[in-house]
Amino acid sequence: MIKAQDLSEFHQTPNPSQSRAVQMTETVSACSFIYTDWALIETQFDPAQLHHKETVFTIGNGYLGSRGSFEEGYPRAVAATLIHGVFDDVPVVYTELANCPDWLPLMITFNGERFRLDQGEILAYERRLDLRSGLLSRAVRWRSPSGSKVDLNFERFASLADEHALGVRCQISSLDFEGLVEVQASLNGYSENKGFNHWEQVSQGKADPGIWLQVRTRNSRIELGMAARLTVSEAESAIEVSNVPGYPTQTTTVQLSPGQSVTVDKVVTVFTSRQVPDPIQAAQTKLAELPAYPDLFKANERAWEETWRKSDVVIEGDISAQLAIRYNLFQLIICAPRHDEQVSIAAKTLSGFGYRGHVFWDTEIFILPFFIYSQPALARNMLTYRYHTLDGARRKAKDSGYKGAMFAWESADTGDEVTPRWALPTDPYGADIRIWCRDREIHISADVAYAIWRYWQVTRDDAWMRDYGAEIILDTAVFWISRVELNTKDERYEIRDVIGADEYHEHDIHNNAFTNRMVQWHLEKAILVYDWLHAHFPENAAQLEEKLQLTSKQRSRWQDIVNNLWIPYDSKTGLIEQFDGFFNLEDIDLREYDSRTQSMQDILGMEGASKRQVLKQPDVLMLLYLMRESQEFPYSLETLKKNWNYYAPRTDITYGSSLGPAMHAILAADLDLSEEAYERFMQAAMVDLENVRGNADSGIHAASCGGLWQALVFGFGGVQLTQDGPIATPHLPPKWNRLKFKLYWRGDWHEFDLRADAKPPAL
Ligand code: BGC
Repeated sequence: MIKAQDLSEFHQTPNPSQSRAVQMTETVSACSFIYTDWALIETQFDPAQLHHKETVFTIGNGYLGSRGSFEEGYPRAVAATLIHGVFDDVPVVYTELANCPDWLPLMITFNGERFRLDQGEILAYERRLDLRSGLLSRAVRWRSPSGSKVDLNFERFASLADEHALGVRCQISSLDFEGLVEVQASLNGYSENKGFNHWEQVSQGKADPGIWLQVRTRNSRIELGMAARLTVSEAESAIEVSNVPGYPTQTTTVQLSPGQSVTVDKVVTVFTSRQVPDPIQAAQTKLAELPAYPDLFKANERAWEETWRKSDVVIEGDISAQLAIRYNLFQLIICAPRHDEQVSIAAKTLSGFGYRGHVFWDTEIFILPFFIYSQPALARNMLTYRYHTLDGARRKAKDSGYKGAMFAWESADTGDEVTPRWALPTDPYGADIRIWCRDREIHISADVAYAIWRYWQVTRDDAWMRDYGAEIILDTAVFWISRVELNTKDERYEIRDVIGADEYHEHDIHNNAFTNRMVQWHLEKAILVYDWLHAHFPENAAQLEEKLQLTSKQRSRWQDIVNNLWIPYDSKTGLIEQFDGFFNLEDIDLREYDSRTQSMQDILGMEGASKRQVLKQPDVLMLLYLMRESQEFPYSLETLKKNWNYYAPRTDITYGSSLGPAMHAILAADLDLSEEAYERFMQAAMVDLENVRGNADSGIHAASCGGLWQALVFGFGGVQLTQDGPIATPHLPPKWNRLKFKLYWRGDWHEFDLRADAKPPAL
């Protein structure tokens, strides 16, 4: 661990970002971080946390995400820039987001000694992510192996104002160094996904001024053009271009003496053939038009200001929670597509290779509420992605012998199922593991419908519902007709062989309460949408009926299924059985495993966990949460209490799925279990910042970020939606003095400023 020393003196060195530095009011340190209200500050460089911190310091702009690797490189670094929609084929797992050329490299040498943190000595170090403006900066005081002392102040941002524009700056100051500083600014065309290179080099060259690089994915044939220009200020210097294949570089050399500084700016543009027919031309044209770094940054700052005006959340009395919520929302904002409705947010955002850029139910159920209520236009983009992937969903339904549209459990560019069929064991003699979610975790289709309904309720965007939403809701409803089975003995419909939200149980799972009720709910809404379309847009209704081959016969089937679909709820006990036979499984007391550091599935094995009443994540409780918003069956506070008491102690909340803690936080807040609610909230809040689960290196846990926002608003804020709009019944954690946020609801913004001492308003 390398500790920062001498920080007070260090802070006095001129730093371009200092003038923008936020005044720290209150701070808390953890995991070598200092948390302030708007800035995450890392005070030590610890190579053992390299990959975790690369994820944490990811920046982006809704078009691309770039991990927080260093401009100068570091041994074993996992630099990655992922661009929405740039998928390429891979064996076994079908398709993944290709790691795009790296726009960051800046190699700096002092009289031939290369600056790198694994060489020489770090005298002082600070890395800072300013959430208000998306600026990532790093200040290093470094002694070179031969003993010269220099300061380096790096900055970078991906412009939120212009998604094709990126900026890197480095100010280099000599303390006692005398000699030649050489800066090489490159574009690296050799980026890999863990050893797999997706790119063919097409061409590269010298722009006027600057450099460019053109590459193409090997299989999907997506072209990418990147261009960059280096400028030097505070010193006279020529810039040369060298064309190492796949690595175009601009080099400048400056004479520096003690007390002198030089600043280099690298502005970069990037396009792919997903946006324009000639990406390399577009990148060069844009580069020629781009303003200098400071103006580029100002426009970015203004775009962030506008975004936070709607989406910010203020917590007073708890600086860690304040920073964490802003951090988690920041990570969602930077991966939300702003101008592209053919892509959506992946489970690990654009920040790492986990789940290969695939989209899950995480988006609709966990992430979208934040956008629906604070950036509805972005929510619409992501829901429209589901519209554009309907053909893939139809192919999946057909391939499985069903009708209509059946969404993929893991979805990429086309909507075809891309969940790998098999996972390979790390042990070369171990058995391959079949991944059944692709076949059985079918609740995803109802989850998409749920998010669409919610978007429509909040925005009243009838035009979108008419043109896009209705088709999704109705064609997935057609799928359910073919998927449910009639049990003639019990005279009821059933859904057999599924996986519910809890993935510890995946074989012979019939009538999972979560799935069945979500399907029933979906069909209830499908009937409403069908009738609404007929009443308000008869022509559209007729067109859709023809396209989907719908008749009033289907409508009656939906009604019949709604009336007769089996929901395993026992009105005497108030308990909902997770699936047929769950209560007969061997029971387990998780308190006996309190000292564990692994998931219960790791401890018991897949089969062991599946035979016991232990859950990876909330399932019945998840259902109750989703039905709570509109107070629909089987939700009631009483049912929640009973089922919480049964299921919460059996849920592997700390080591199971990262989707769980935020949901438990909401329900615990509802039940006035304030200690539990806060503990779960912080567990979700810190999942990436403090690497609570030890897997943050593979990317941000996006569902947890979104769940956290829901925990704040619906849990601690106690927001319920009434016909007159949202109303809050706060249950603030003891140390919070204030919770403030805004919600969009049917054309108006509702500002909530909840104080600990205020009496809750009557509902
Ligand atoms: C969870 C799923 C989730 C997926 C992606 C799994 O571990 O059980 O619910 O969709 O991760 O985040």
